[in-house]
Amino acid sequence: MRTHYCGLIDEALVGQTVTLCGWVNTIRLQSHVAFVDLRDHEGIAQVVVDKDNADAFAVAGQIGYEYCLRVTGTIRKRLAANDKLKTGTVELLADKVEILNAAKDLPFALHENPNEDMRMTYRYLDLRRPEMQRMMRTRIKLVQALRRYLDARGFQDIETPILTKATPEGARDYLVPSRVHAGQFYALPQSPQLFKQILMMAGFDRYYQIARCFRDEDLRADRQPEFTQLDLEFAFVEEKDVQDFVEELIRHVFKEVQGVELDAAFPRMTWAEAMRRFGSDKPDLRIALELADVADALKHVEFKVFAEPANDPAGRVAALRLPEGAGLSRKEIDQLTEYVARYGAKGLAWLKVDDLAKGRDGINSPVAKFLDDAALDALLKATGAQSGDIVFVGAGKWKAVTDFMGALRLKLGKDRGLVENAWKPLWVTDFPMFEYDEEAQRFVALHHPFTAPKVDDIADLRANAANAVSRGYDMVLNGAEIGGGSIRIHRPDMQSAVFELLGIGADEAEAKFGFLLKALKFGAPPHGGLAFGIDRIAALMAGTESIRDVIAFPKTTSAQDLMTDAPSLVPDAQLKELHVKVAAEPANG
Ligand code: AMO
Ligand code: AMP
Repeated sequence: MRTHYCGLIDEALVGQTVTLCGWVNTIRLQSHVAFVDLRDHEGIAQVVVDKDNADAFAVAGQIGYEYCLRVTGTIRKRLAANDKLKTGTVELLADKVEILNAAKDLPFALHENPNEDMRMTYRYLDLRRPEMQRMMRTRIKLVQALRRYLDARGFQDIETPILTKATPEGARDYLVPSRVHAGQFYALPQSPQLFKQILMMAGFDRYYQIARCFRDEDLRADRQPEFTQLDLEFAFVEEKDVQDFVEELIRHVFKEVQGVELDAAFPRMTWAEAMRRFGSDKPDLRIALELADVADALKHVEFKVFAEPANDPAGRVAALRLPEGAGLSRKEIDQLTEYVARYGAKGLAWLKVDDLAKGRDGINSPVAKFLDDAALDALLKATGAQSGDIVFVGAGKWKAVTDFMGALRLKLGKDRGLVENAWKPLWVTDFPMFEYDEEAQRFVALHHPFTAPKVDDIADLRANAANAVSRGYDMVLNGAEIGGGSIRIHRPDMQSAVFELLGIGADEAEAKFGFLLKALKFGAPPHGGLAFGIDRIAALMAGTESIRDVIAFPKTTSAQDLMTDAPSLVPDAQLKELHVKVAAEPANG
């Protein structure tokens, strides 16, 4: 159908007859000549249609943006080269122009940034845009590089079931009703976690899979209901074995896909340190701001907002110094206060350091009057405040303060242009084993229930469950959690004990995970692994905030596919066959 790609014609072809196919990117119709920029997968070629060629010129008169064309003609040198185009030194003088298909009433112009709903509804048009093609290709290159690296190192690519039993990763399951077994359901996997562990028990030693995962959870820019992991598992390993290997893998793909050299050794930070210094378990180390704990300075003050949490073991008082922030207006501070309220802040105290040398008189703050000289001095010292700075103080429950001060740090970093243009990877380690869920009044697994605790002794774990540390680890890059993994429990007694601590009774454990408990009894090897979020890594590489840009057919934040209109109603007959009765009024019909 064609002899060359539009984006690949060059001076070597001058004088030759070629046929190009593609879409009309732009068209300029003049009285004696038409210029058409024809676009395909590889780029753009300029096509020239002379009025002398009456047939071709007549066709050119009918076409519009995004028409699909086939053009045959002769390549010639351009009079004036266009150095913005890769093919800018040559053009195609058309002999014959064929319309392969029209594109009437385009819903949006591709070069104008269309809104998200339009892009999703007409995804095929959106994906035609060169920017989208570039981002999708980054993802494709990433996956190719990952596969090549792992295949060359003896990893076994093994598929695991999509129709399966619930594999919990902390989200809700998508369920599929069984036609054959009335009233029974498959769950779509939240990850291949249990299957990959069982593959290690089955002797496969090193496994990988580019695996689709399904999680029914609240969506954000970095979360989709179905997403892709590079899933890895290794037998006979400890933390360092897994971490060293995957760190090298990530360095390799960044070099190959992006030409970027990442740090020789990623820094490591415990979860506790990350929360203390950055208010986040995925700290963005491109931003130099840090939290300071100031409870000690404020324990004795009369101001209850500070003193109460300062004296409460479950409380926290944290300060954040913004260098040269004393110029923030009242309105800007109010906006920041509103912003942190979304993260659970009941207020946000601040102190502008107009002149440090003047002591109290050099401080402009609504709360300074509540603080004695010693407290004020200690607070400023703890943050390293200088004249011209502003210091924010958050007080309350440990988790709330950590979250909202961490969010404030990110916001100030972004708003004030304090995000370094760099790649800042790190490992976060030593996660708590459990998190106490106040609502459910029980422990939940911070990672997943198959993660091994640091202690080997079950009695020790039981005695100190609230403070138990796990053998889990996350890889974080520029504030995004790009991968998470752990050393797994490989002893059935420990796995049963952990289920029990999570409030999963023996019967429930047997019903949900009996197959795992059984498999652990037959010589299960020590094992561990990790899964990377491919969408997230691709988004970082492509330089986009949203993983939707690197997923060909993503869902909206309300989990809809606007192009196919999924989810949708199904005929009653189909429901009946599946033994399903719909209790709620259908939402969209
Ligand atoms: P985890 O739940 O941490 O671990 O997932 C691993 C990585 O997958 C990515 N990710 C997501 N990406 C897009 N949309 C989502 N909804 C989403 N959820 C997670 C993140 C995350 O770091 N089975 C374990 C891995 C293991 O222990 O080996 C697991 O799934 O980048
Ligand atoms: P209030 O006593 O509520 O009038 O608050 C007095 C000052 O303390 C105001 O500047 C509030 O913004 C600030 N403040 C109130 N609650 C908190 C909190 N939890 N953390 C930090 N500052 C707070």
